[in-house]
Amino acid sequence: MTSGGATGRLLATGLTHGDSTPRVVGGSGVWFEFEDGRRLIDASNTAAPLGHRHPEMVEAIRGAADAPVLNEGWGWREREDAAADLIDIAFGGEDWVGAVRFFISASEANDAALALAQALTGRTPLATRTRAYHGGAGLAREMTIQPHWHGGLASATGAQRVPPRSTEVLEIPAPTNARITGGVDPTAEPGWAADAAAKLARSAAVILDYSQGGVYHTPAYQDTVAALAREAGALWIADETVTGFGRTGGWLQFQKGESRPDIVTMGKCICAGAAPAGAMVLSRDLLAQLDGTSWQTYSTFRAHPIAVAAVRAHLRVSLRDDLFRVAAERDQGMVDRLTKVAADHPSVARVDGRGLHWTIELHGPDWHDWDGSEAAPLASRVSARAAEAGAMIATSGERTSLFVAPPLIASEAEIDLIVEALDHGLELADEEVGTGT
Ligand SMILES: Cc1ncc(COP(=O)(O)O)c(C=O)c1O
Repeated sequence: MTSGGATGRLLATGLTHGDSTPRVVGGSGVWFEFEDGRRLIDASNTAAPLGHRHPEMVEAIRGAADAPVLNEGWGWREREDAAADLIDIAFGGEDWVGAVRFFISASEANDAALALAQALTGRTPLATRTRAYHGGAGLAREMTIQPHWHGGLASATGAQRVPPRSTEVLEIPAPTNARITGGVDPTAEPGWAADAAAKLARSAAVILDYSQGGVYHTPAYQDTVAALAREAGALWIADETVTGFGRTGGWLQFQKGESRPDIVTMGKCICAGAAPAGAMVLSRDLLAQLDGTSWQTYSTFRAHPIAVAAVRAHLRVSLRDDLFRVAAERDQGMVDRLTKVAADHPSVARVDGRGLHWTIELHGPDWHDWDGSEAAPLASRVSARAAEAGAMIATSGERTSLFVAPPLIASEAEIDLIVEALDHGLELADEEVGTGT
């Protein structure tokens, strides 16, 4: 079994290194420590913008461990303060912003946001862009276009068994070209907006994220889709699970466009990885539409005292240390480094990204062709080779795709080390696939 048989009674997923995934025993700053004695830079961890065991995050969690056992049914001052901090700091207190509800994960926040859109519009179909990923549960999983994340089974013979969709999902074109190399841009074709408009006219909402599947669309694309959605009576949900809290430079990626969403969803890095949490931020207009209604969607552990303490600590540290800005300053350096990587390695087919989030795609099987025939696909083997040179570079679960997203606290020298390790890893891909032609 390629889904983690080596870990005894644990049904592991085996993402990145398959059955040979090394065990982590500790970590601090940008470093992971492994059971086999290795110490590697954590180069692809979007949940860890402050790295590992940041002292103020540890202190916040310790303090919150003293809280009573609470659920959402009970009031908790710290939860209200966390909502206010999130709006005041990350959203800059902009007056279109209404209110926050916390969740356990981004998947859960997306599921609730999409269901809310269906309830408000009376429409069932939902739209997203090509190659999207929005989570592993409920409607978020339905909106996940990448086949390996959709909950199905891939067998060693290559056959896929995929669960049926419970909701009609409409896929709109996205700019799949890249800043550095590779890809074609379907939105350069004049018909794409008309195609999107027709789909949005039937949809309850369109949900857009800013990095998954290696697609880093521009603010102009966002603004066009947002305008089409508004015209079509569909809501626009900005999924900032990866890009929130400074990953691409600035608090939130949607802020780089002119348009403002109906709903923003977040997760992953919101607690700097110190606790699991997600959040949904509703616009003031949408909040007005909820006036006179009761929207329950209750869950036991949402806005747990540990999670809200961690959100507040993360906002405080990122603001004080200017970490939410740092990825913008690193952007050009990343372009320079990865332009060289692309030129040096014939196995590299596509490189795109911004700030401190980059995707490197290799020649080889297309992302649609997911199967379970390889215990360790090419990207996993490249990742294992990169680990020999000192960095833990993750795959995105696709067979030929890796991503680099170091902690925002990484120094230039540490980023150099990551790129050197990537370079070393890609030598293996060059030997195996070359240009893939
Ligand atoms: C864009 C996006 N949305 C949603 C999710 C789901 O987040 P979680 O796994 O925390 O539920 C992810 C996770 O990778 C993501 O990248």
